[in-house]
Amino acid sequence: MMSYSLGPVLLKASSITRRVAELGARITRDMPKCGQILVVGVLNGAAVFVADLIRQMPPDLDVRLMFASASSYKDGTESEGAPKIQADWKAARGRHVLIVDDILDTGLTLSTMLRKARRQLPVSVRSCVLLDKKERRKTKVEADYVGFEIPDEFVVGYGLDCVGMWRHLRDIRSVKVEEDEGW
Ligand code: XMP
Repeated sequence: MMSYSLGPVLLKASSITRRVAELGARITRDMPKCGQILVVGVLNGAAVFVADLIRQMPPDLDVRLMFASASSYKDGTESEGAPKIQADWKAARGRHVLIVDDILDTGLTLSTMLRKARRQLPVSVRSCVLLDKKERRKTKVEADYVGFEIPDEFVVGYGLDCVGMWRHLRDIRSVKVEEDEGW
């Protein structure tokens, strides 16, 4: 059996707040002032990030929000491979789509999301991730907007979880994983 405990703080709440404001300002600057912007948050991990990010966007932008559900982690910190993604993709048609995820890791989730969004003939598709673990990439994909590059460590907090725990933390912290010795 695995046991998990909280490790050190990697990103303090104050740095996250500052960076989210910067990302919001950059995205707002880059987005066209007319047309609808469809923000697609990837559940569950990006819920906290996307909630903060869209509130950086000014009232004159026509921002819509929807969620996609993606699941690839079978348990704890081990990925199962290709993610299953469910969303109302038809909503992307004729809109400027911004896919928002918590973390870009192997890249399988983001590349699948991009492919599904592009099939719907949107006006444009961009992506924004809070965290980027570049060294773990299995597929060639980069996000247009990245909050922080982080080392290859499993992290929790600010929406990210480990077996459902620690999404509510304000800081982002690493996780210590230990295998319990059996009897
Ligand atoms: P891929 O590998 O598809 O991964 O780029 C994206 C999804 O994997 C999850 N993920 C993590 N979740 N701490 C987490 O809580 C991590 O360190 C981590 N690394 C990857 C996450 O759900 C993300 O959307």
